[in-house]
Amino acid sequence: MKLAVVGGGSTYTPELVDGLARLRDVLPVTELVLADPAADRLEVVGGLARRILARAGHPAAVTTTSDLDEAAADAHAVLLQLRVGGQAAREKDETWPLECGCVGQETTGAGGLAKALRTVPVVLDIAERVRRAGPDAWIVDFTNPVGIVTRALLNEGHRAVGLCNVAIGLQRKFAALLDVRPGEVHLDHVGLNHLTWELGVRLGGPGGTDVLPELLARHGGTIAADLRLPRALLDRLGAVPSYYLRYYYAHDEVVAEMRTRPSRAAEVAALERELLEMYADPALDTKPELLAGRGGAHYSEAAVALTAALLGSGGTNDGTGGGSVQVVNVRNGGTLPFLPDDAVIEVPAEVSPAGAEPLPVPPLPPLHAGLVSAVTAYEHLALEAALHGGRDRVFAALLAHPLVGQYALAEELTDRLIAHNREHLAWA
Ligand code: G6P
Ligand code: MN
Repeated sequence: MKLAVVGGGSTYTPELVDGLARLRDVLPVTELVLADPAADRLEVVGGLARRILARAGHPAAVTTTSDLDEAAADAHAVLLQLRVGGQAAREKDETWPLECGCVGQETTGAGGLAKALRTVPVVLDIAERVRRAGPDAWIVDFTNPVGIVTRALLNEGHRAVGLCNVAIGLQRKFAALLDVRPGEVHLDHVGLNHLTWELGVRLGGPGGTDVLPELLARHGGTIAADLRLPRALLDRLGAVPSYYLRYYYAHDEVVAEMRTRPSRAAEVAALERELLEMYADPALDTKPELLAGRGGAHYSEAAVALTAALLGSGGTNDGTGGGSVQVVNVRNGGTLPFLPDDAVIEVPAEVSPAGAEPLPVPPLPPLHAGLVSAVTAYEHLALEAALHGGRDRVFAALLAHPLVGQYALAEELTDRLIAHNREHLAWA
């Protein structure tokens, strides 16, 4: 089985390779191709990938290339984990919205729109080349903003599924609190990428008993503290929100904090420099502990399980066998009845070589559904702006965003977005 990773020079790659080594029975990779335009990073990351697999006695051959067509040729699956403009572009997404009193974040709000505008055309171009070189390949998209990027890919008819690690992270956390195996925990995870709520936590599978009320009663304080939200809010929501919801529920508080601290991009850039130095050490043959400082924890388990299920090699969501229900980004198709069918939502789905079929989910209460509707409309407008460009489209997407909403603010943000991203926007 050939797996290609676009953005293979990412410092995240050893996390993925570590997962491939641990879960080799789930996903029998024989050829791993790391593709990246940054030749220096590719060499360093590729070297460590080979050593991690060799240490595990894994038979896969690792190759590195800057030639996408070569990477995708006859691939069974292609993982997209790229960041257009790198941490430097992210730093801007996290900075200029703050000047207007808005959250500075790479996937939420105005910064997320900038990222979508830079990323969608690049990903569509990559996907088109993948379709020509490896027409049977499944595309697993981890590239943010995952909801918008996945919608773009599906609209163009690509065999794509969007992936995020928020759900698997909560599954692991809840399993530890409940003292059960992660595979026993099924989440009623509902919403859009980075805008989800756990409406239920079921033991034993989608039809199992919902233990969320008990979980909140016993561990609500811990869960709320982790999210940095008041315990009473969780009780009021009757659900556990993803940590990205803090950007909504505590927007002004977050803005005040962000103004006093270095950006996450700056932190990550420093971490990446340190990681790359470690990766270059020929004696290193494991994923370093320092990598846990990145947000992508459990990404490898999620990616391996999803790819295995798509390729029919036995999907599981905890590497221990059984089941192929995974939380992914898929077409709505009536699952959330108040959204258009062609919206992309993040919910549990039955995953097989035929694709990802969303499972029925509990109804989303109006308290959450309103926000989901508004952000879905924003995502539609964001995709229009990413595909067709133009100041008016950027403005419309910002005006529709529930964290913006006011015309004067949207005007200001539009000007800043375009000024800071001109080099990445063909139309600007
Ligand atoms: C989580 C999110 C990803 C995001 C990452 C950022 O994993 O689900 O979508 O890319 O955090 O982590 P970082 O270490 O780059 O801040
Ligand atoms: Mn994510």
